[in-house]
Amino acid sequence: MGRSNESLLKAKREKQDEFYTLYEDVENEMQHYDFNGKTIYCPCDDFRWSNFVKYFRRNFNELGLKRLIATNYDIGEGAFVYMCDANGEYAFRVDGKGDYRDYNALRDEADIIVTNPPFSKWRDFFKWARVKDCLVVGPITALHYNEVYPLLLTTNLKLGYKGHRERIGFYHIDTDGNSVFKPAIWFTTLEVEHKDKFIPTEAYSPEKYPYYDGTDIIEVKPYNKLPKDYYGKMGVCDTFFFYYPYLDYEVLERRGDLKLNGKAVYERLIIRRIKK
Ligand SMILES: C[S@@+](CC[C@H](N)C(=O)[O-])C[C@H]1O[C@@H](n2cnc3c(N)ncnc32)[C@H](O)[C@@H]1O
Repeated sequence: MGRSNESLLKAKREKQDEFYTLYEDVENEMQHYDFNGKTIYCPCDDFRWSNFVKYFRRNFNELGLKRLIATNYDIGEGAFVYMCDANGEYAFRVDGKGDYRDYNALRDEADIIVTNPPFSKWRDFFKWARVKDCLVVGPITALHYNEVYPLLLTTNLKLGYKGHRERIGFYHIDTDGNSVFKPAIWFTTLEVEHKDKFIPTEAYSPEKYPYYDGTDIIEVKPYNKLPKDYYGKMGVCDTFFFYYPYLDYEVLERRGDLKLNGKAVYERLIIRRIKK
């Protein structure tokens, strides 16, 4: 590939990363967690405009934070390190791009990594952040990632509050100031408790729940149609993970080869109700 093509692609990728989380989305999610005595690090956040920084700064005392740290990626206006603690706040410019990978020491000092990172680098970012507790926005497709899916099964990783029984995604502001809807969800290692637990109410019938071709697995779609009286294998889509830790089901496997009446269906989690 020619040099100019390469830099065009790079510019396109970087532009796709420039979407900014709205204050209300930050506030709506953060209010559920306990940050008392914690050091929070926002590694993809320019302290001058990030709504994560704004939220934690504004609520610093009320949340009982120990320290807030923010660093940003230089997209033309410089890279900064920002800190806020009981002694006050300060920021200084640093050399280099402000890449999160250059800040292992800040990450190691933090208790919780909180941000909306660049989706083009999400897998790598998540591996980097996962060393600590984290509360991060991610694409819905991340549910399929090998770095993510096994953690969801062990409930070491959970999906956050936003997205639970509501439209999945956020309005973000892009660099031109436009409001853009992007499908996204919160991923966190922190405690999550959904108060409105899901209780299956549908009765099973073979007509309502067909088998995938040549299998003993029934299709359940959407997942809130889970039958209350069926104990065989069932196929559901990934949004099931919103409920998974709070339901009496086990996940058996993931299948991407299923067909219904000859038509291929998207990847499914194969689950089974645990008899109690
Ligand atoms: C989806 S935006 C979100 C920005 C901000 N966290 C927010 O929620 O509004 C992702 C941000 O990550 C920044 N970024 C891209 N590559 C980065 C890297 N290697 N290290 C740190 N930040 C990076 C981008 O400049 C962009 O501002």
